[in-house]
Amino acid sequence: MNCISKDYIGCSRLAAAEGMVLLKNDGNILPIKAEDNVAVFGRCQIDYYKSGTGSGGSVHVPYSVNAIEGFKKCEFINLNEELAWKYGKFVEENPFDNGGGGWAAEPWHQEEMVLGDELLSSIRETSNKALVIIGRTAGEEQDNHDTEGSYRLTELEMDMLIKVCSHFDQVVIVLNVSNIIDMSFTNDERIVSSLKGILYAWHGGVEGGNALADIISGKVNPCGKLTDTISYQISDYPSHSSFDGDVMNCYEEDIYVGYRYFETFNHQAVQYPFGYGLSYSDFTIEVKEAKIKGEHILVKVGVTNTSDQYFGKEVIQVYYEAPQGLLGKPKLQLTAFAKTQLLKPKEEELLQITIPISSLASYDDSGISGKVNAYVLEAGEYKLYVGNSSKNLIECTIGENNGGYMVESLVVVEQLSQALSPVISFNRIKPGLLNADGNYEKVYEEVPTKKSSIKNRIISNLPNTIRYTGNKGILLSDVKEGKYSLESFIAQLSSDELQTIVRGEGMGSLKVTYGTAAAFGGVGSKLLQKGIPTACCADGPSGIRMDTGETAFQVPIGTALACSWNVELIKDLYTYMGNELQDHKIDVLLGPGMNIHRHPLNGRNFEYFSEDPYVSGTIASAITSGLKQGGAVGAIKHFAANDQERGRSVVDSVVSERALREIHLKGFEMAVKDGEATSVMTAYNPINGIWAASNYDLNTTILRNEWGFKGIVMTDWWAKMNDPVEGGQATINNTAAMVRSQNDIYMVVNNDGAEVNGYKDNLAKAIESGHLTEAELQRSAINICEFILNSSAMKRPIKTEGIKAIVSATNKDNVAAISLNEEVEVGFTKDSSLWVKVDKDGIYRLSATMRYDAFNSAQSACNLLMNNVFVTTINLNGTGGNSVSKKVADVQLYEGDYLLKLDFVKPGIEIIGIKLIEVE
Ligand code: BGC
Repeated sequence: MNCISKDYIGCSRLAAAEGMVLLKNDGNILPIKAEDNVAVFGRCQIDYYKSGTGSGGSVHVPYSVNAIEGFKKCEFINLNEELAWKYGKFVEENPFDNGGGGWAAEPWHQEEMVLGDELLSSIRETSNKALVIIGRTAGEEQDNHDTEGSYRLTELEMDMLIKVCSHFDQVVIVLNVSNIIDMSFTNDERIVSSLKGILYAWHGGVEGGNALADIISGKVNPCGKLTDTISYQISDYPSHSSFDGDVMNCYEEDIYVGYRYFETFNHQAVQYPFGYGLSYSDFTIEVKEAKIKGEHILVKVGVTNTSDQYFGKEVIQVYYEAPQGLLGKPKLQLTAFAKTQLLKPKEEELLQITIPISSLASYDDSGISGKVNAYVLEAGEYKLYVGNSSKNLIECTIGENNGGYMVESLVVVEQLSQALSPVISFNRIKPGLLNADGNYEKVYEEVPTKKSSIKNRIISNLPNTIRYTGNKGILLSDVKEGKYSLESFIAQLSSDELQTIVRGEGMGSLKVTYGTAAAFGGVGSKLLQKGIPTACCADGPSGIRMDTGETAFQVPIGTALACSWNVELIKDLYTYMGNELQDHKIDVLLGPGMNIHRHPLNGRNFEYFSEDPYVSGTIASAITSGLKQGGAVGAIKHFAANDQERGRSVVDSVVSERALREIHLKGFEMAVKDGEATSVMTAYNPINGIWAASNYDLNTTILRNEWGFKGIVMTDWWAKMNDPVEGGQATINNTAAMVRSQNDIYMVVNNDGAEVNGYKDNLAKAIESGHLTEAELQRSAINICEFILNSSAMKRPIKTEGIKAIVSATNKDNVAAISLNEEVEVGFTKDSSLWVKVDKDGIYRLSATMRYDAFNSAQSACNLLMNNVFVTTINLNGTGGNSVSKKVADVQLYEGDYLLKLDFVKPGIEIIGIKLIEVE
């Protein structure tokens, strides 16, 4: 807890509270009043979720406050203690089911306690209000399903609600969920009249329970707004028929994601709109002025808190409606937002919102507007709307006009070239005629396919070779001090060294902070000799993941943060996290995750922000800027269109160039341009046939050449690559294709595998055959070294690998120590120990035969300790049940006995046999 200050904790608690979204508050059931007595139902009052699952949730936390603890600590909440005790007992007898603790094994929900009428009647005697907490989780490699217990309530949960609603007429449901869930149950006639309040509390990190108490008690006035549309039925989402494919998903909805779709084609299907959320206060919103100033539209909005009682904040959202033109446009698109300060009762704030006119442009990928591959403003009226949700808007007139911003004739805002376009032809939706009910008719048009030659593009942009000079004794620190240019430093790197530097090592490399995701940069002795430090990266995004079990703070999940719409607060929060990363000698946080919420069932939606790219880009920029201010770097991920977890490394995202640019890449573009992101993680999936990690248009044409990105691009862990020109099969060792696309670092080869090409990648062969030039390797080496030069790794002394020495211990356990000269069968699957005998002093290599019965990208880890000294973290990916033998660690030992302990932090791995032999 050394670097977890009170301010960090307070900031996270406030962010969790501000991210909660109040959807219903009939009769002002909330906040709880002094005279109320509250009965809290649902086991998640104890088993309160703080985060989703997988790499994004695997933080070992020093503590975590659940809902009931939060309520108990809150002086304004009178609890029904009898019921709290009952749930305590129930959870004790029916402990949390974590599915065994393995990768993607945790169930989406926990089984509820069955409620009897007798209990309910007795509880009702003391309590006048009931709170029902429903919990859900999901995560990496575990999408949600449209089934009970996942997207829908279970029978037992529904039964609980019906019973509570039949005894109480004042009921609030609290959704401790990682993602939106089906809300149709709220209209069930058996509960509708008693269900007065609905609160999306999301997963709030370790302070989640305190934050919930703050909202329920009124200490914090709700001010969160949905960053997704909740529709009545899941089949209403336009991506529903093209989600969860086995081979590919054709993004037929095109740019019409979320409210862009609903407001254009099916506005009646919306149960809770994008941007919506209630407060305990009321606010009046008045547009004071809207005018053109140079290249911008300036909007001044007065917001008054009309409440007599509550302090509060409001989020003002500005949308626009572009003329349909020939391209076709969504009826609404968010273009700016601003959150007020905490306004006293009756206080007014004047918000000044600036909108670049260029941001109203659409991308023409077909040429129908008259310009092809360009952002254009088609002629016509661009109407502006201001309000506090996508459904509660007032039209705002600009200047002296009686209407919006007028464009007389087509304006080209930015001329680009065709990039990343599909090779498969398919149809996308487009607005047709406007119907009387306010919806546009849905028509279809063919998506333009690829015409440009990637081969020519790559060849004509090949970098020039820097002539190899051999070692001139120039260190990277000399470049930092301005004594030599980076080019002259790179000129010293041999082909082998250049190949080494594009390989990251992990997980759990001993070269960097133990238990983290990867080491990169100085991963080989020769690179270290040249003064390249070993940089470290760790998951992310909601806290630092260290698989050793080392603890770190955990903040709310991405969706919760985004729902706060509080850019400053999020920036502050990640500044604290940047400091924490620095304290742990970690340079890069693997996050923010910022894929678009294309479909509600994506398991990793919790790490991401919104269905809207402007919200995603703004929140991601706040995070990258905050981390930078705190001394670290955020890797924006997963670039791009990684929109489902099932089959994530094979399922092709087939998307039009327009939808990519306007929706799926837009947030990343903002994080690069506004958030100054200097690190990108590519996705596992192919995009239009080319895997992200070897996709030249993605990583070079768009990211670097168009957006001006300066920094490193890394793959996702054990990603696959295929040929950037020909496409075809993808493999994990086509690193040449990766370098060619200018994805700089392969994450990850095994520990100590970078220098010896542990993954048997094809770099040397490709150089030899001319499929890759050394100049391309040098280009990536420059990207990596430039990044490291600006990172905190540069400030740390170069750590050369030493061999750990461990002294022998007195064997007090009364068990004979065994010799491990030959592999001894152990079969350890959970925390175990073994006394081991060493006959003479020397350097010993511990190796093990192990297996993990899971698919390749599943992760499992255990710590190895000898005489209670940490030696290493053994990480193993799913081996499909096959056994593998691996070096575990080299250690200096002395004659005597050693207690070898295995501490299974991430279960799944099975240590079948162990051997400890002296190294010659
Ligand atoms: C995930 C990434 C994560 C990486 C390292 C991958 O499985 O997709 O988001 O950062 O592992 O843990």
